[in-house]
Amino acid sequence: MSERAAPPAAGPLVDTFGRIADDLRISVTDRCNFRCTYCMPAEGLAWLPRSEILTFEELTRLLALFVRLGVRSIKVTGGEPTVRADLPNLARMFRGAGPELDISITTNGMLLDRLAAPLAEAGVDRATVSCDSLMRHRFAEMTRRDALEKVMAGLKAAEQAGLSPIKINCVVIGGTNDDEVVEFARWSRETGYEVRFIEYMPLDAEHAWERAKVVPSREILERIDAAHPLVADGHGPEPAVRYRFADGSPGAIGVIASVTEPFCDTCNRLRLTAEGMVRACLFALEETDLRGPMRTGAGDGELEELIRGSVWGKWSGHRIDHADFVQPARSMSMIGG
Ligand code: 5AD
Ligand code: SF4
Repeated sequence: MSERAAPPAAGPLVDTFGRIADDLRISVTDRCNFRCTYCMPAEGLAWLPRSEILTFEELTRLLALFVRLGVRSIKVTGGEPTVRADLPNLARMFRGAGPELDISITTNGMLLDRLAAPLAEAGVDRATVSCDSLMRHRFAEMTRRDALEKVMAGLKAAEQAGLSPIKINCVVIGGTNDDEVVEFARWSRETGYEVRFIEYMPLDAEHAWERAKVVPSREILERIDAAHPLVADGHGPEPAVRYRFADGSPGAIGVIASVTEPFCDTCNRLRLTAEGMVRACLFALEETDLRGPMRTGAGDGELEELIRGSVWGKWSGHRIDHADFVQPARSMSMIGG
């Protein structure tokens, strides 16, 4: 990398391209109770030993620091965040560290039937639930768990708990579930959930990703629009481009075209892995350790410098479509989505 100036010592977390990172994904565990084919191998991964995972106190200390550095919204992710013991307590500590924060959880929904109410009560604002098929058998094939009904119960519980709006993440894989996009749109109209279709990304543990299995978001939108006409609903710094139904029906559609129409130039995200590494990009090949320094007594000033340095080093964007693309060693469950 060429010589570059040091990051500013104050103000928001900015990179050399002028992007400001104010949205933080916090992975609270690398473990998961699903084994989605596009993410993990059937036998799971070698989980991190407990001692390497940040404690609630460490997570909360870092969050308070990130809030001081301008982070405005967080997503609690995993692995599967709900398998971290005592998660509502952590959520309560997060809320204490950021009374004004927008706090959401990204979950597979499996345990939401029990956890939605305590999480809402602890201060979580909203939930994004992964759901790749509305057909029991296909859902089981894609997640390697026969859990569609349980996830539906989780969604009901989330609604009842007031976690709103509810968003659905659907990873579309050509030849697997792309025939369901119109059905998902119908479901969105019926439930009011915003269904977001995510392009399949090269972040699977088994490195089975193929360009040919990516279904361009444009195609998905065309198919839905033909059945249920859509109107654009603008888009902010969020990667999802949003659409409403032209007839005013409840629900909404989002597309996350990470592969075919990368949104790297407006990216405002930053990631903290379960073991305390800062990643400036989902596809980053470098990360910055905060746990080591924290456990050997680093003060907030020192941690701040490390965080600023990590953001400053963020590259302009991923290069999935380039011959020199290197898939990061970590798969999605170890990054946190
Ligand atoms: N490509 C696209 N999305 C993925 N996710 C996990 N792995 C991949 C992948 N290879 C999604 C999950 C979850 C979100 C955090 O990331 O389905 O909704
Ligand atoms: Fe678990 Fe999410 Fe990976 Fe599926 S995509 S295996 S739910 S971490």
